[in-house]
Amino acid sequence: KETVRILSLETSCDETAAAVIENGRKILSNVVFSQIDLHELYGGVVPEIASRAHMEACDRVVDQALREAGMSLQEIDALAVTKGPGLVGALLTGVNCMKGLAFAAGKPLVGVNHIEGHVSANYLSHPDLEPPFLCLVVSGGHSHLVEVSDYGTYRLLGQTVDDAAGEAFDKAARALGLPYPGGPRIDKLAEEGNPEAFTLPSPKTDGRYDYSFSGLKTAFMNTVHTLEQRGETLPKADLAASFRRAVCRELTNKARLLLQERGRDGYNGFALAGGVSANRELRRMASAMCEELKIPLFMPELHLCTDNGAMIGSAAYYRLRNGELAGLDLNAMPALRL
Ligand code: KG4
Ligand code: ZN
Repeated sequence: KETVRILSLETSCDETAAAVIENGRKILSNVVFSQIDLHELYGGVVPEIASRAHMEACDRVVDQALREAGMSLQEIDALAVTKGPGLVGALLTGVNCMKGLAFAAGKPLVGVNHIEGHVSANYLSHPDLEPPFLCLVVSGGHSHLVEVSDYGTYRLLGQTVDDAAGEAFDKAARALGLPYPGGPRIDKLAEEGNPEAFTLPSPKTDGRYDYSFSGLKTAFMNTVHTLEQRGETLPKADLAASFRRAVCRELTNKARLLLQERGRDGYNGFALAGGVSANRELRRMASAMCEELKIPLFMPELHLCTDNGAMIGSAAYYRLRNGELAGLDLNAMPALRL
């Protein structure tokens, strides 16, 4: 079939999101219902609240995605759902919802890895991008340097040994009294601060391309506590800017090492993916680095960096093309790896 339209659902964390995607590249609709308001009160995602909210929102979000695409369920060629990694209860609600629809409508079902979804957001923003390329996946749960050798074929070259970059941003934000999710808020505040105001240590790791953010986070916390104990008003913008600079420097330095050692030979470019790829400083530093190394840079549009259904529909298209279908015994896989 020439035109394949997939209805996808993402419920791995705190966004209930559905989309209709054509041939893995074109967004016909993309609906994101964020639960941030529900979790803000607790300073982070509460798993049971997330599951219940997904349960309530699933049908509505899926309906809206179909409506905005101007399609009926019968006109859809396949259904896709995030099977992991993520919160088990949250994943189960989405998997069950799509299994029910697939069974009722007699449509094929594809289970998608959430991290692969983030990588695939680049296929939507850059219709010409094709593997092989290198990708830095940075989200609330992951900091991976990945070789995308082909559609659906990945080689993990480096990863965080402790906190993920997004997690570090969220914890640092909390220390500054910023509400959840802290990443975007630190990013905004940092635009007004001096990134050289505070010196934070460069992380050390055994693996050449591995990341570590817990030492950086602790050093940041210590700086904040020392200032508080002295009774000083926190220079929040300077602190945010210094922390953001340190995290982004670490992220780009390891990527640079990898690109320099492996060269750009055989790679079509370097890509960013995941919630943290919305970070302004990271986008600027990656642009400067790729210009210097003369390698094309690919970044998802901002609304496709954080969790969404469109990226799941894109990844599903290439799995479907390979004939990789899920059965009605599909289960949630909270610790699924790439
Ligand atoms: O990819 P995502 O939506 O969910 C996961 O798969 O984890 O990423 C969410 C993470 C959160 O930690 C959030 O604080 C972070 O991405 N984030 C950012 C920015 N936007 C989202 N971190 C830094 N700067 C941003 N602009
Ligand atoms: Zn994500």
